[in-house]
Amino acid sequence: MAGILDRFKEDQTVAKEVDASRKVKVGIIGTGWIAEAHVNAYKKCPDVQIVAAADLIPGKAEAFCKANGLENIELYPSHKELIDNADVDAVSVCTYNATHAECTIYALDHGKSVLLEKPMCVTLEEAVEICRAEKRNNGVLSIGFQPRFDENMKMLKKICQSGELGKIYYIQTGGGRRRGIPTPYGTSFIQKDTAGIGALGDIGCYSLDMVLNSIGYPKPLTVTGYKSDYFGKDPSYEHHDVFGVDDFAAGFIRLEGDIILDFRIAWAMNLDTPGDTIIMGTKGSVRVPSTECWNGSIGGPLVIYHEIAGNQVETIIEEKHNDKDCFDIKIRSFIDAVKDGGEAPVPCSQILYNQAIIDGISRSAELGREIAIEIPEI
Ligand SMILES: NC(=O)c1ccc[n+]([C@@H]2O[C@H](COP(=O)([O-])OP(=O)(O)OC[C@H]3O[C@@H](n4cnc5c(N)ncnc54)[C@H](O)[C@@H]3O)[C@@H](O)[C@H]2O)c1
Repeated sequence: MAGILDRFKEDQTVAKEVDASRKVKVGIIGTGWIAEAHVNAYKKCPDVQIVAAADLIPGKAEAFCKANGLENIELYPSHKELIDNADVDAVSVCTYNATHAECTIYALDHGKSVLLEKPMCVTLEEAVEICRAEKRNNGVLSIGFQPRFDENMKMLKKICQSGELGKIYYIQTGGGRRRGIPTPYGTSFIQKDTAGIGALGDIGCYSLDMVLNSIGYPKPLTVTGYKSDYFGKDPSYEHHDVFGVDDFAAGFIRLEGDIILDFRIAWAMNLDTPGDTIIMGTKGSVRVPSTECWNGSIGGPLVIYHEIAGNQVETIIEEKHNDKDCFDIKIRSFIDAVKDGGEAPVPCSQILYNQAIIDGISRSAELGREIAIEIPEI
């Protein structure tokens, strides 16, 4: 038993020494809720200078900079003006989902590196265009999945990659909240024109990334999808008049390598959880306990169910503590890649498959039948 546990010891990311004399100039595109987390993390990087900010809403970028103690910042009325005029090496795209693609493609095509918030975009078509822009340019493009840097998520990947589970053939993932339609500062998450997709993209992308990254991102082949909006459209819900996306979605996806992915996600439901994440293999399976507010964390220790010398046993992998905030690591690792010309910490080539599944669930739900997932050549 000890031998098995030794294979899954903690492996915290070791901080590299930062060369503060080489500065990276950064612009913030979209100064809403999540932009503040980006700014706070950039402030912890001695080699980053935030020099510009842009927002479509007049006065918003200025108020944001003031509230966050950012001085001498160039302010712009949209991503285009910022990219055309500001002297920046990199941008954080913190806009709502519907403008992720246009901001990212414009920035990459103008020689900038991009840290793009999740979900990558709204449609597969946009995801393909983003990947093509990344391919034809030199900038780094990383997608903002901070749970990737959580020690428990890294452990899950280690377990899947260790061979301890044998051949993986079935995965159940997803999660949700009993009541948790997000309207933190307005309705940009729930309107069709700004969000494009609801729970499916907002928190569904995290569940998908957790399992797909753990097993090496196999290609999705077919999908049967479902989505609904019963809670968002309920007349008793205060924003029902503007609610234009899904609040629940489910999908049954076939992945390359004869693997089934069974997925469901909810912003609202009459249930505590739609189930734990489970990854089943021929030699062992792993359970990831669900949380009340699914956002890429775990609700308890990972448990491996397997057989040792003919005995059915459970190995409990104690919960790992993160030495550093995952959001800070997401920002730091992006800046390191920009400076060193290294690989993107969360590459768009992987998240393309995540987006293909989201898009597939959405399209299949609209068509009312299973569809093939066809991903064009990048
Ligand atoms: N990683 C995380 O933990 C996390 C958490 C929350 C939100 N997010 C993601 O961050 C994104 C933004 O979420 P939010 O809550 O900050 O939204 P928000 O609506 O509060 O802010 C988005 C801002 O972008 C601006 N904007 C849109 N298009 C623009 C453009 N072309 N140029 C300049 N500004 C533009 C809008 O005017 C708005 O002020 C979403 O995609 C969301 O999924 C990620």
